[in-house]
Amino acid sequence: MADPNGPIVELKNIVKRFGSVEALTGVSMTVRKGEVLGLLGDNGAGKSTLVKTLAGVHAPTSGEIWVKGVQREAWSPLAARNAGIETVFQDRALSPQHSIVANIFMGREITNSLGLINVRKQMDEANRLMREIGFTSKVFNPNSIVGNLSGGERQGVAIARALYNEADVIVLDEPTTALSLTETQKVFRFVEAVKESGRTVIFIGHNIYHVWDISDRFFVIDRGKEAFEGPKSAFEGADHLIHMMHDLAETGRVDQTSLRKSA
Ligand SMILES: Nc1ncnc2c1ncn2[C@@H]1O[C@H](COP(=O)(O)OP(=O)(O)O)[C@@H](O)[C@H]1O
Ligand SMILES: [Mg+2]
Repeated sequence: MADPNGPIVELKNIVKRFGSVEALTGVSMTVRKGEVLGLLGDNGAGKSTLVKTLAGVHAPTSGEIWVKGVQREAWSPLAARNAGIETVFQDRALSPQHSIVANIFMGREITNSLGLINVRKQMDEANRLMREIGFTSKVFNPNSIVGNLSGGERQGVAIARALYNEADVIVLDEPTTALSLTETQKVFRFVEAVKESGRTVIFIGHNIYHVWDISDRFFVIDRGKEAFEGPKSAFEGADHLIHMMHDLAETGRVDQTSLRKSA
């Protein structure tokens, strides 16, 4: 039997080659239930490749994917979804000309016994999901067109859709890259709400200050290899983490003696 208190996701020794490029050279990452894991690394480090492997988009060249204590074979985007893992990719996730409610239920509509869309039920459910993640704007309702929403609100719709699918793990790949500070705060509030509901979040960002604020633990990749895994308490603050990242970029390694031991 799978241990209910065990890790929700384990990637074991994942290697991913694209032709002659080895994007991941053997990465092992553990994700605990209910945490926000900040996934950090320079451009090209392999962050997106790692989460696309978890999302079933890329088949690993070698290595194992474990979810909820079970090793997953024949992994695919559908299998990942069915196992409770939802990945939100920036901008690509939504259909801007459609309403919020249409986007949330796209491909997974609530239907009645005649196979017709149950509009009323979808509206109720969309309202509930938007409330659950703290969608506060009075200007918008489930019928609002997504193209009229701000970037942060669009991320909120994508997260609401992930919740509708009863995701246990929500992966956000650079959700704040194109956003203003206010909009970024909005996305953080959505992530907080997801965490409070007991779900797990993997958050990728290259602004370390942003990732610092919302993460419980960090996983750092450098040139396709894991360079650091540890809790927030290993650092004095965001600047300490940034210092470590700069050191890593310069020397290719993390100086463990510079970290706090309280962890
Ligand atoms: N589909 C692909 N085909 C070939 N190379 C790829 C592909 N996807 C990513 N790569 C390469 O793998 C490396 C890691 O990329 P990526 O995972 O996107 O990094 P990150 O998300 O950390 O910026 C890069 O060298 C990138 O060029
Ligand atoms: Mg990326």
